[in-house]
Amino acid sequence: MRPINIGLTEDQRCSVIELLNRNLADVYLLLVKTRKYHWDVVGPQFRTLHELWQEQYEALSLQADDIAERIRALGGYPLGTIEGFLRYGSIKEHPNDLPNANEMVNRLYTDYEQIVRNLRDHIAQCSDRYGDEGTADFLTGLMEGYEEAAWMLRSFVEGEALQGRPVASDNASNVPAGV
Ligand SMILES: [Fe+2]
Repeated sequence: MRPINIGLTEDQRCSVIELLNRNLADVYLLLVKTRKYHWDVVGPQFRTLHELWQEQYEALSLQADDIAERIRALGGYPLGTIEGFLRYGSIKEHPNDLPNANEMVNRLYTDYEQIVRNLRDHIAQCSDRYGDEGTADFLTGLMEGYEEAAWMLRSFVEGEALQGRPVASDNASNVPAGV
């Protein structure tokens, strides 16, 4: 096999590949959970959540592909079995459990936050410990996308919590001064 000479030591490359495989495992596990909830969700928000989760699992599928191909670009091999994803991932599954729509949103939100925390740690390791700015930059782009996905889910739950509160009155007392 042709040696890889991109300015990283063997140890650095292997360490980064392992971090990327952990991210790949989490993205795949979240993809599976999101798709399951896309299928199972019921209630007045069915259409909104069904469509949001389709968008999100399609994005997760593309991201899994990007991560796997970056692993190949670094000379590694991506995980490719459910067993491997479960072994290396940090996302928890909930077998034999059918939560209501709000709990589904809460669980996915928690998972996105977990992935963002993991990525923040992996980005710091890539740049500070392993000298791989390219992967740090790649993971930073991914992290921003997951922060946005988490925001969409958080907004959904926060909207639920606001139900029953008075709507803005004519004098708009709930609007900050000067707006
Ligand atoms: Fe579908």
